[in-house]
This record gives sequence, C-alpha cells and structure tokens, in this order.
Amino acid sequence: MTADWGETLWASLPVPAILLDAEDCIADITPAAEVFLNCSAKSLLGKPVWDKVMVDAPLEEAFARVRKDRAGLFINDVYVGSGTCAPVQCNIQIGPVLRDEGRVLVLFEPRQIADRMDRANSVKSAAKSAIGMAEMLAHEIKNPLAGITGAAQLLAMGLAGDDLELTDLIVAEARRITKLLDQVEQFGNLRPPLRKSVNIHDLLDRARKSAALGVAARMKIVEDYDPSLPNTYVDGDQMLQVFQNLMKNAAEAADMKEGGTIRLRTFYDLSLRLRRRDGTAARLPLVVEIIDDGPGLPPDIASDIFDPFVSGRENGTGLGLALVSKIISEHDGWIGVESVPGRTVFRISLPVAPKETETP
Ligand SMILES: Nc1ncnc2c1ncn2[C@@H]1O[C@H](COP(=O)(O)OP(=O)(O)O)[C@@H](O)[C@H]1O
Ligand SMILES: [Mg+2]
Repeated sequence: MTADWGETLWASLPVPAILLDAEDCIADITPAAEVFLNCSAKSLLGKPVWDKVMVDAPLEEAFARVRKDRAGLFINDVYVGSGTCAPVQCNIQIGPVLRDEGRVLVLFEPRQIADRMDRANSVKSAAKSAIGMAEMLAHEIKNPLAGITGAAQLLAMGLAGDDLELTDLIVAEARRITKLLDQVEQFGNLRPPLRKSVNIHDLLDRARKSAALGVAARMKIVEDYDPSLPNTYVDGDQMLQVFQNLMKNAAEAADMKEGGTIRLRTFYDLSLRLRRRDGTAARLPLVVEIIDDGPGLPPDIASDIFDPFVSGRENGTGLGLALVSKIISEHDGWIGVESVPGRTVFRISLPVAPKETETP
C-alpha cells in the first residue's frame, strides 16, 4: 500500500528528479525528468549518471557531502543537458534519502522558474540604462531645482496666508524631488564594496535602532538571533543600507494593520552554494531574514520588485530594493523573497569572513 502510494507520488511529481544509488547510477527518474532530459527511463535506468547527464559543475564532491552530512545542498546556475537535449540553465537541489545511506535525490529547477530569483540577483541591462539616463537627468535637474527652491523661499518672505501656503508647497515638493534625485545618484554612484570582517548582529542592531526611532516607531521588532554566528565579510555601510531599506519596506507593509511586527532572524545554513562568475563556488552560510506580517507583495509587481522604479506605493521611488539587490550582487551574496498575505520574508545569504581578515 505504502509502496504503491510512493510510486504514484513519484510518477506524478511535476519536477525533473533523479534518484541515484550508492554508486551514482540512476536508480529511478520521474516522468518529468524523462521529458527534461529527452531520454526514456529505459535508456537511463542502471546507467552511471555521468554517462547520461551532463552538468557543467563538479557535483561528485557535493554528492559525497550530502551522503556524509545527511543534509541537503543547493547549487545554483549550472547548465544541465543530455546527449539528446541542449543544456538548460538550472538550479539543482541534492538531498539524502531517508533511512538509506547511499542513495541521493537530485532535483532540477529549470531556469524559467529560477528566473525570478536570478533577476533579484542581477541588474538587467534595460534597467541599467534607465538608471544611467536617470542619473544624468538627476545631475542636470538638481541645480535649477535649487534655484526654484531658493526663489520660492525669497518670495515667501513677503507673503502671508494662502499665498504663503503655495510657496511652502513649492519648497516641500522641490525637496521631495531632490530626495528622489539623491536616491538615483546614490544608486549610480555605488562604490565597490570595501569589505571587512563584521559582526552581522551589530549591523542589524544599528538598523533596528534607527528604524525604531523612525520608520518603524509604531511596530514591534522581534529579534531571533543565533548569537554563535561567525563574522561576515561585507562593506558595513552598504550592508547597513540594505537592512535599513528592507526594514523600512517591512515597516511600511506591516503598518497597514494594527500592531504590526517585524521579525529579524539570523541562522547558519550550509545548504546554499552560489556559483561565482569565474565558475568557482562560494558558500553563503550566514542567513539574515527580515520578516513582516503585512499584506504581502502586490501580485501585479511581485516579479519585478527588484527592478528600479517599480513601486506599489503612492509616494514610492522603487529604488529601495533595486539598491538592495545591487549591493547584494556586488558582494556575491544572494537575496530571495517569499511572500503570502500575512508573511513576507526577505532572505539574504552572506559569506563567512575568511580567517586572515579577523582582527585579533
Ligand atoms: N515587505 C514588503 N511587503 C509588501 N510589499 C513590499 C515589501 N517590500 C517591498 N514591497 C513592494 O515592493 C515595492 C518596491 O519596493 P522598493 O524598491 O523599496 O520601492 P519603494 O519602497 O520606494 O516603493 C514597494 O512599493 C512595495 O509595493
Ligand atoms: Mg522602499
């Protein structure tokens, strides 16, 4: 009965998956994997996986580690193909099999699904040129804008009542534009990160304190830290900006209901490995989550929130998350988001500081 159920489940799994035996031979594959690899199960079963499945990353070590640690691993951004299909960009998940020492399960997540995540972690070229243009404009607009503000302030000196209200409006709106332009310039002027060994909880504390005084004054902020985390290796100022932007968004979202709560969570998770541009793999085991209980991402922009100028708010600039994703990608880190009404999680994965960078 259980075995039948298991078989049915395996056959209905809408995910390309391969079960490997202790010798890395293919013990079973899902129908979705037959389609994905464009090979029949018959031609694959019992064959050494490396004879049949081409992956442009050395996975033997990853398999060995999964078998040894009995814990799953993710490897992102690899090309997977077979003799009969063109390579497809995928994220791969490798997991141990319960009560079975030798077998491992390999799941392939083809690029279309992974795409949304990738977009968070790279700035698209259209967005880049939009930003370049905006930066130039920002620079050009700021001077005349300062002139307009000054003139309005001079005018205001001789005015009273309704007229004064109008000049105040000019000044206030001009300030708003200047602030937006500052943000655009900040985005364009981002310098390469100056990395140091940094305690992540110190940064979170600073972000929490400034949020508690400002944007999140009416919220409850709960800390759920793993105090044993080693230092991370980041540009402290830039990462502070990341946490501030995320906390500001969380506060703005959670504030839409009574007594909103922001949860800051840190933990250690060895399962994510990021492939760097040079092909080597980086481990990003330090995880920071910023969680709010607000209404969740607006569905119509959910897949674009990391692009510049995408905002679901009336007075939003849409630059907060664009800057966040730019900073994270400059650090070779990883950011992801999961959102349902009532729970939105932004998750950042960062590297551990190399030993030699620790100041005694
Ligand atoms: N924690 C969150 N909960 C719900 N929606 C969010 C959250 N964070 C971001 N968003 C959505 O993503 C949009 C883009 O955010 P951001 O880039 O910071 O720009 P801005 O805050 O200026 O609108 C926001 O306008 C909002 O609609
Ligand atoms: Mg924002």
